[in-house]
Amino acid sequence: MVEGLTVGRRGTGSDGMATKPSTSAELLAQHRALEVTRHRITAGKHFYLDEASEWAGFEFLYVLRGALTLTSGDEKTALRDGDYIYHRGLPERAFFRVEEDLELLMVSSPPSYHLVKEEIQDIMALARSVEEKDRATEGHCHRIERLAMRTGERLGLSGQRLIDLSYGAYLHDVGKVKVPDHVLGKAGPLTDDEWVEMRRHPEYGAAMLCDKAFLRAASQIVVAHHENYDGSGYPRGCRGEDIPIEARIISVVDAYDAITSERPYQTAAAKSKAMQELRLNAGTQFDPRVVRAFLSAIGEDELA
Ligand SMILES: [Fe+2]
Ligand SMILES: [Fe+2]
Repeated sequence: MVEGLTVGRRGTGSDGMATKPSTSAELLAQHRALEVTRHRITAGKHFYLDEASEWAGFEFLYVLRGALTLTSGDEKTALRDGDYIYHRGLPERAFFRVEEDLELLMVSSPPSYHLVKEEIQDIMALARSVEEKDRATEGHCHRIERLAMRTGERLGLSGQRLIDLSYGAYLHDVGKVKVPDHVLGKAGPLTDDEWVEMRRHPEYGAAMLCDKAFLRAASQIVVAHHENYDGSGYPRGCRGEDIPIEARIISVVDAYDAITSERPYQTAAAKSKAMQELRLNAGTQFDPRVVRAFLSAIGEDELA
């Protein structure tokens, strides 16, 4: 077990502080710097507890319902209903994966959770406003994030890289907010000049994210999400391994979601058309390794 972190099983004692992405959080009580919050986090999400260099205080986290895995270094610890953790400053960041829909009670001092959360909520709202203007189907950002995470896990990403991937995926098109409405919402085909404007959105997005320290890695992912494996993409024409793997993942997932959302009432047909499209373009537009990982993640979906 990581130094400074105590795990308790029903009736013993332990420690932890959570920071990022919670599905919903509710403030139950507050006194001076102390906050008691309840968090509901869906299965498949990841979050982390900050290390002592970034945060100082006390945090207690109690699992009301559900299951999660704590990873610190090579060590994994499973936690479920009735287990709890607490800490007063961790020597290193501790990462959590939610295995079953989770309900957590958290007592923390000082309440750093809200500072980070509100900051990202604004940008997430902006990304959803783009989703509407862009005529993307509702829930596009969320679906991209979820599928990207599953693919990333299959490719062996973990810890901070998965957190950055989740931000990058959710916010991949946020830069479209700076593309003029008449271009973004145009019903017919775009002119050459309009395409030039549209193709600026990865760089616009990266510029919006890079001044926030915790989104800097995500900004490098966002800028590259329209690069193609064979170098034919934009804005830089990077190829192969020069494109961050996180961006290669988003490219595959985004294409899949675009095709399956075209015909929402023909799910099975749309799915097989999308998978065919991915296989066809593996090695040119898409990284074949990512396509394979994604298809196996989807296969698992179908079995579920
Ligand atoms: Fe995009
Ligand atoms: Fe997209």
